Amino acid sequence: MKPDIILVEPMMAPIEAALDADYRVHRLFRADNPAALLAEVGPKVRAVVTGGGTGVSSTLFDGLPHLGIIAINGIGTDAVDLDRARRHGVRVTTTPGVLTDDVADIAIALMLASCRRIAEGDRLVRAGAWAQGKRLALGRSISGKRVGIFGLGHIGQAIARRAEAFSTQVRYFNRSDVPNVPWPRAESLEALARESDILVVSVAGGAQTRGLVNREVLNALGPEGILVNVARGSIIDEPELVSALKEERIWGAGLDVFAHEPQVPEELFELDNVVLMPHQGSATIETRLAMGELVLRNVAAYFAGQELPSAVV
Ligand code: 8YV
Repeated sequence: MKPDIILVEPMMAPIEAALDADYRVHRLFRADNPAALLAEVGPKVRAVVTGGGTGVSSTLFDGLPHLGIIAINGIGTDAVDLDRARRHGVRVTTTPGVLTDDVADIAIALMLASCRRIAEGDRLVRAGAWAQGKRLALGRSISGKRVGIFGLGHIGQAIARRAEAFSTQVRYFNRSDVPNVPWPRAESLEALARESDILVVSVAGGAQTRGLVNREVLNALGPEGILVNVARGSIIDEPELVSALKEERIWGAGLDVFAHEPQVPEELFELDNVVLMPHQGSATIETRLAMGELVLRNVAAYFAGQELPSAVV
């Protein structure tokens, strides 16, 4: 008999087809009544496949007494209670490596979109306003700017390398010094913001980084500064970011992630100095296939009693 698994959010069609071939897949995202589905199949389920931002809620965890593995289709573990997983002997896997380049690309895209008013220009042309004589305001050069990277992990380093190709000067802040990198480390996050024209957030989410990009950091970035976030919305004090943008205490922002996805503060919809994306960092055909394949390998290894290819717990 095929093992029962829960799929929390959709994946690419070939990945879902591969899951269906080997498991009885219960799709939580499609259930009219998720609580009823959980009550019905929960006791049989040994594996959950979920997204990095979505993770496993405590209600879901509660309903799965025989859970053995949480396979995250992503690298963020902040939406999964890792301590609880450890206590209950539940394994947790992620998809490291395969999404690094795409997330770094989105950071650069948001940097450029913000500096050069790409989304605003697109709106202006579509509205027919250009033909009526309206001009887009001047943007800002990216060349020569100081780019500060908050969180110099694999993604942060990939962003740094790309940023350098645009003739920028890179520095970073991380809790600990990162060995063997050519970029200087700022003394604090606030110092990094003060010394940066563009501050890029690429640090892991979770309790340790919650709200660290606060009013002081945004003010240190200043009225010419641009904030880019490709990590987690929780790292930024979102109401403070909204007021900093409204009051033009920072010049602009490019955001791929938000504190309460898919909800985005509606006040941002009115503002031209912010570029908004619906959490697309790893969302390419190539990368989502590679991520999905790694999820498949982790789940298959778990049920075969083999070593898990990319376990974090
Ligand atoms: C994905 C992510 O969008 O890697 C992560 O932690 O948040 C993203 O890559 C997500 O995992 C898919 O839901």
